[in-house]
Amino acid sequence: GSYRVAVIVGSNHSASINRKLAQALVRLGGETLEFEWIRIDDLPLYSLDLEGSRPPEVTRFTDQMKAVDAVLVVTPEHNRSLPAVLKNAIDWGSKPAPDNVWRGKPAAITGTSPGAIGTALVQQHLRQILGILGAHVMGGEVYISFKPDLIAEDDTVTNESTRVFLETFMGQFATFVRKLAAP
Ligand code: FNR
Repeated sequence: GSYRVAVIVGSNHSASINRKLAQALVRLGGETLEFEWIRIDDLPLYSLDLEGSRPPEVTRFTDQMKAVDAVLVVTPEHNRSLPAVLKNAIDWGSKPAPDNVWRGKPAAITGTSPGAIGTALVQQHLRQILGILGAHVMGGEVYISFKPDLIAEDDTVTNESTRVFLETFMGQFATFVRKLAAP
């Protein structure tokens, strides 16, 4: 069978390099995973004042998250931590606690930045937050130092060793999801 995987890009940048990476990963994703792009850039800033009558964007987001088996987060690093847009989505999904959409979800984390240790610190932070919320975050580390020609127009990875590395990551994720997701 196939498993539904939410793809969340932690950026609201129209020319996001992380969206580009996510598109390349989806191409390398294999047969057993079915990807669903879930937007977070339209969610209002979390406020307890909005609980009780949640805005439609928020209920769309949480409904989408409840319907998937797993989640792939591809995120930039902002000041060595999560971009506010991603933390905001995580917060919306975490409340109310009985409806926490992250609990029990197999999750994989990656990201890219132009820097040499691109996104290492945000990935560590994100692993901690998702762990606290009860997601099952896959082990291992995939940091991609972004170069302008790394991913072609058609979302193929131009560097052969990077392509193999990313394909292996997606293969490991597929195995991880199969092991952990409810049948
Ligand atoms: C950045 N950037 C950045 N890069 C990094 O490797 N570590 C960091 O801590 C930060 N901090 C940071 C803060 C803020 C407020 C901005 C706007 C940017 C640079 C970042 O990697 C770059 O903008 C990428 O293009 C972000 O990815 P997206 O949004 O294009 O996917």
